[in-house]
Amino acid sequence: NVVYNLTFSNLNEQQRLIWFSNEHDAKMCVMKGKDEENCQNYIRIMAKSAQGRLLLCGTNAFKPICREYNVLNKNYTVEKEKHGQAVCPYDPHHNSTAIYVATPFNT
Ligand SMILES: *[C@@H]1O[C@H](CO)[C@@H](O)[C@H](O)[C@H]1NC(C)=O
Ligand SMILES: *[C@@H]1O[C@H](CO)[C@@H](O)[C@H](O)[C@H]1NC(C)=O
Repeated sequence: NVVYNLTFSNLNEQQRLIWFSNEHDAKMCVMKGKDEENCQNYIRIMAKSAQGRLLLCGTNAFKPICREYNVLNKNYTVEKEKHGQAVCPYDPHHNSTAIYVATPFNT
């Protein structure tokens, strides 16, 4: 549910981005018999997509979602949101590797 931005040398926290599972998806997840811990939003993909832009994908209670954030003055604002199926694992226990290929902007 959280991404920490730390200074590498002393691990001081610079900023944090908080992103919980969608409330409805979390309820459905628990109703389907998963325990609450696994219905949290485990951030599994993070890539800098452009200057001041951050692409994140989280498991969102077994219904993965990707978001593009704008990073400005210590604030993170959501610019775009889309389904993360087939991009991001849905199960927090799945091991995965993500490769992000940047495409030129303004095309
Ligand atoms: C991390 O924090 C630093 C200092 O506030 C900021 O300059 C940088 O843009 C942040 N990086 C990300 C990816 O949020
Ligand atoms: C993920 O990796 C860990 C460490 O190698 C392993 O113990 C675990 O079984 C793996 N999980 C799955 C679902 O394959």
